[in-house]
Amino acid sequence: MYQSFYGLKEMPFNITPDPNFLYLSPTHQEALQHLKYGIAEKKGFIVLTGEVGCGKTTLCRHFINEIDEEKYESALILNPRITETQLLKTILSELGEEGSSRSRSGLVKQVNDVLLDRIQRGKDILLIIDEAQNLTFDLLEQLRLLSNLETDKQKLLQIILMGQPEFKRILGEKRLRQLRQRILVHTELVPLNRYQVEQYIHHRIAMAGGQGIPFFTSWAVRWIHWKSRGVPRIINNICDKSLLSAYIRSSEVVKVKDVRTALKEISSLEFG
Ligand SMILES: Nc1ncnc2c1ncn2[C@@H]1O[C@H](COP(=O)(O)OP(=O)(O)OP(=O)(O)O)[C@@H](O)[C@H]1O
Ligand SMILES: [Mg+2]
Repeated sequence: MYQSFYGLKEMPFNITPDPNFLYLSPTHQEALQHLKYGIAEKKGFIVLTGEVGCGKTTLCRHFINEIDEEKYESALILNPRITETQLLKTILSELGEEGSSRSRSGLVKQVNDVLLDRIQRGKDILLIIDEAQNLTFDLLEQLRLLSNLETDKQKLLQIILMGQPEFKRILGEKRLRQLRQRILVHTELVPLNRYQVEQYIHHRIAMAGGQGIPFFTSWAVRWIHWKSRGVPRIINNICDKSLLSAYIRSSEVVKVKDVRTALKEISSLEFG
């Protein structure tokens, strides 16, 4: 609604994980470096955790866009509420193959053959699983077994697991110690500080085509930081509604009173 008033090409604060809007804060940068280092090392599992709404899926999409297509082939599983058989079939279909075997051991063999074939063609294969906190113990065990597939020289599959902090607790369980020992890299996304919240807001407005307008005053940013605790998804929600409030006042400047109006609206939605 306010998009044309502010001369924006796009809505700046959508809550979809669009990698084109990615702001590489220090925590996102560090996580990205860890992912890159992890896949270059080829030794074991890579784990990325972070609070709800801190940017795991967005970063994951950016990472997939960035990796060298000549060298890597990736299989992405966005929602792992599946069975072990479905997992194996999904890996095969993500790699452009069909899971023809009926038995689980047959499917594992098929995965093994496909991975060997890709490696002979000079490709490395990444399996990336988002929402890893939803993986059952049986699925984690299946993943561990897949990570055992190897030639004399290298692992056939590199596995990246992304999940909410709950996933860290799950990995701490005693029965998962074998898997835990295989985690080469663990990196964590943390919320943004006040300065980063300011950068984040300006970055998203600039990416949406805004040139200094709309402008959030530094007090408005302080409030947004305080109320969102630096979590990007909450920042987006507050900013979107604050912009609407400023638009209704026909103002190019977003002030604390707009943020207050936004917060009131959000809390009335949340608590009915
Ligand atoms: N570094 C960032 N730069 C730009 N936008 C971001 C960043 N981090 C998060 N966002 C935005 O915040 C919202 C939530 O991000 P995302 O869905 O990636 O979080 P998540 O950690 O995967 O959350 P969940 O735990 O619920 O899966 C999205 O709109 C996303 O675009
Ligand atoms: Mg996510």
